[in-house]
Amino acid sequence: MKNDVKNVLYSEAEIEAKVGELADRINKDYEGKDLLLIGVLKGANVFMCDLMRKISFPIQIDFIAASSYGHSTESSGVVKILKDLDYSIEGKHVIIVEDIIDTGLTLKYLIENFKSRKPKSLEICTLLDKPERRIAILDVKYIGFPIPDEFIVGYGIDYAEKYRNLPYIATLKESVYS
Ligand code: IMP
Ligand code: MG
Repeated sequence: MKNDVKNVLYSEAEIEAKVGELADRINKDYEGKDLLLIGVLKGANVFMCDLMRKISFPIQIDFIAASSYGHSTESSGVVKILKDLDYSIEGKHVIIVEDIIDTGLTLKYLIENFKSRKPKSLEICTLLDKPERRIAILDVKYIGFPIPDEFIVGYGIDYAEKYRNLPYIATLKESVYS
């Protein structure tokens, strides 16, 4: 797997430090409140596991799995919910936990969908953000690393469902795609 990596963008240590910073902010902002973290599967799985263990008060977690219709590399904005939340979010303080925001179309759909379920508050926490590619206007409260428009994998994020288990964030060699 390491032979397929072109460039490491963020090492395990850099990711851990950044996740700690995000958790510190969440600890300050939500201390004493009922907080529900919603992880967007599958990509946010690894980030969610690390983030929640750095939160210092009891929280709840849930997961949603969503996929964009249309071809695989570009988000179409039409989102299909493959696995819905297990519980109601009505009256709860909710943070959606995402791996990466690209066009923003997937999250835009999820935000609108969740708003109709009447949470007490609703924010977004993403590890990675590609602002250059944004189509949907989103108000993202917690951002780990803004990154340029490059295709990356690792730390939960895939190429063709593989490389999610790379412990760092990296680009892949061109030969992997051909
Ligand atoms: P969007 O914001 O609706 O365009 O879609 C975001 C989703 O696209 C992410 O949750 C990822 O699943 C996928 N994605 C975007 N950029 C990358 C990337 O660089 N590598 C792997 N998946 C990506
Ligand atoms: Mg995702």
